[in-house]
Amino acid sequence: MQKVAFITGCSTGIGRELAMQLNNQGWKVVATARRIETLESLEKAGCLVLPLDVTEPRQIKKAVRDAVEICGRIDLLVNNAGYGLILPVLDIQEEELRRQQNTNITGVIQLIQEVAPVMRSHGGGTIVNIGSISGVAPTPFSAAYCASKAAIHAWSDVLRMELQPFGIRVVTVQPGGIVTDFGKNSRKTVEANFSKSSWYAPVEEYVFARANTSQEIATPVAVFVKRLIPKITRSNPSALIRIGKRSFTLPLLKRWLPSALLDRMMMKKYGLHALSPRM
Ligand SMILES: NC(=O)c1ccc[n+]([C@@H]2O[C@H](COP(=O)([O-])OP(=O)(O)OC[C@H]3O[C@@H](n4cnc5c(N)ncnc54)[C@H](OP(=O)(O)O)[C@@H]3O)[C@@H](O)[C@H]2O)c1
Repeated sequence: MQKVAFITGCSTGIGRELAMQLNNQGWKVVATARRIETLESLEKAGCLVLPLDVTEPRQIKKAVRDAVEICGRIDLLVNNAGYGLILPVLDIQEEELRRQQNTNITGVIQLIQEVAPVMRSHGGGTIVNIGSISGVAPTPFSAAYCASKAAIHAWSDVLRMELQPFGIRVVTVQPGGIVTDFGKNSRKTVEANFSKSSWYAPVEEYVFARANTSQEIATPVAVFVKRLIPKITRSNPSALIRIGKRSFTLPLLKRWLPSALLDRMMMKKYGLHALSPRM
């Protein structure tokens, strides 16, 4: 029986590569994205492609219904869609905050609520939530993103216990830096929202630099996905998977360095040491 994987955010990056590699390994892949035209090559390769903006609850219900109608089951759900809102906390408008949370948190939960009953009906499955090392070791100018990923780590921990009795495994993946469009998309959030009147205008270049941090030292996406697949498709996957550049060092620094020292290092890296009340 062919196993079925349902993946969000397949237009680029991790989602796209995961869809392609799982498809090549014989899985039936339901590849979803909000811009369906980006999925043409995945469709040609044999994936079922469906439109899905994870901030639209009606689209979530329809995509899951269509996937089950066509494929009959869902064995693996990968909540991958997400982006990083990069802005100083004082500059974040409510609408932007809501969009970040709806995409990175609420959409994930709503999808799990739709898919879990499907998995239970055929004896179980695996749910993979893509968190981030940023949710473990937060940095300046990325609070909204880091908090959204820390929240997903907590939701996953609870879901892992609540769904285990029904044969549904829940896995948190905390990637380090992976080469994708993530940096480019984060930069767009700064360009759209950062203003010259910000307290942080004197260190503007550091805010932009934060948007690209994940891409500074990064693992090729194909390498990341190749290492990820055997870990998430085994019958007893680990609760937590960390792969990619800095995915081991950052949690270690966070755990063992005194907070005051780590704060000083981060403040220097992101230019905050250069600011003063008189600026
Ligand atoms: N790359 C890294 O270094 C890194 C590190 C840690 C964690 N992550 C996480 O990995 C996941 C994948 O990111 P990536 O690195 O592959 O970046 P990416 O290339 O920017 O891909 C992000 C994907 O999410 C999709 N997306 C965003 N908002 C969406 C929405 N409302 N509905 C449906 N899809 C939406 C994007 O679609 P559009 O093309 O339509 O925007 C795109 O397909 C994210 O959750 C990210 O937080 C990445």
